[in-house]
Amino acid sequence: GWTMASFVETELAALKKQVGDDEVVCALSGGVDSTVVAVMLHKAIGKKLHCIFVDNGLLRLGEGEEVAAYLREHFDLNLYYIKASKLFLDRLAGVTDPEKKRKIIGTTFIEVFEAEAAKLPKAKYLAQGTLYPDVIESESFRGPSAVIKSHHNVGGLPEHMKLQLIEPLRELFKDEVRKVAAEIGLPDFIIWRHPFPGPGLAIRIIGEVTEERLEILRRTDKIVQGELAASGWYRKVWQGFAVLLPLKTVGVMGDGRTYENVAAIRVVDSLDAMTADWTRLPSELLASMSNRIINEVKGVNRVVFDVSSKPPSTIEWE
Ligand code: XMP
Repeated sequence: GWTMASFVETELAALKKQVGDDEVVCALSGGVDSTVVAVMLHKAIGKKLHCIFVDNGLLRLGEGEEVAAYLREHFDLNLYYIKASKLFLDRLAGVTDPEKKRKIIGTTFIEVFEAEAAKLPKAKYLAQGTLYPDVIESESFRGPSAVIKSHHNVGGLPEHMKLQLIEPLRELFKDEVRKVAAEIGLPDFIIWRHPFPGPGLAIRIIGEVTEERLEILRRTDKIVQGELAASGWYRKVWQGFAVLLPLKTVGVMGDGRTYENVAAIRVVDSLDAMTADWTRLPSELLASMSNRIINEVKGVNRVVFDVSSKPPSTIEWE
């Protein structure tokens, strides 16, 4: 029968054979998919793999560095950590349209990645953590009449890069990728990490992305993550995060009146992100998230909980 152990074994042998004496580049994002791809390839071809991590300045607190540190500590792999946040934020200045944000982030990512990959002239392949639902969604999303959201982590490679794609996970669903992750010995904090969109926090700040808004959202999101983890809910849900609505409402703090932003909490159950339902979190947990956010995060004086399902809403707000 088909087991994860045999999938991994077969896949490693196939990767080794396919790559031969050539080299491979991969984009590491900090998520489970790209980490599994990197570790599988590392096991198959060792130092012939080069991993490029582009820090776009739109990551959560600690996202990325943690995974990079883990990989550096446990595997002897080529890992290049590129800090490019200024470039991304400069290009995003003044941009409010969600699809424009995605386009800018997608093209800037490719530009930065390509510049790094150009330093590796022996690379013939590009490895990506594309999953089965990404293949399906991008096909339907990219139809001429029905572009809902452009997912920049699928396709979009410039022709002239001449790299051939390797997508070892393209037949798997997320739960299967997690089983592969466990099979190859990755730790829980990577296996159970929630999906995080390529455009990152930029699509969780409605309207313009600024350094100040990113800071507020990072601190808010950290509380949501922390409360989900501490209550045992983190692993039970598909995704949980905060969204910043730069919409000011009135509050009171001590003797004073406040006029600050709204933060939304979005937590959903799903199998593959194609459909999703909002998670019925206990009210005490919501209360504790809300109290902590309003008390600890300067710039937020109101918290709302999103009770919309997909469809007709989407998981992300932009
Ligand atoms: P939506 O909001 O379309 O999200 O219901 C479905 C899943 O996809 C993630 N998502 C993205 N991932 N680039 C990505 O890499 C994107 O532009 C993007 N937009 C949404 C979202 O987090 C959810 O898991």
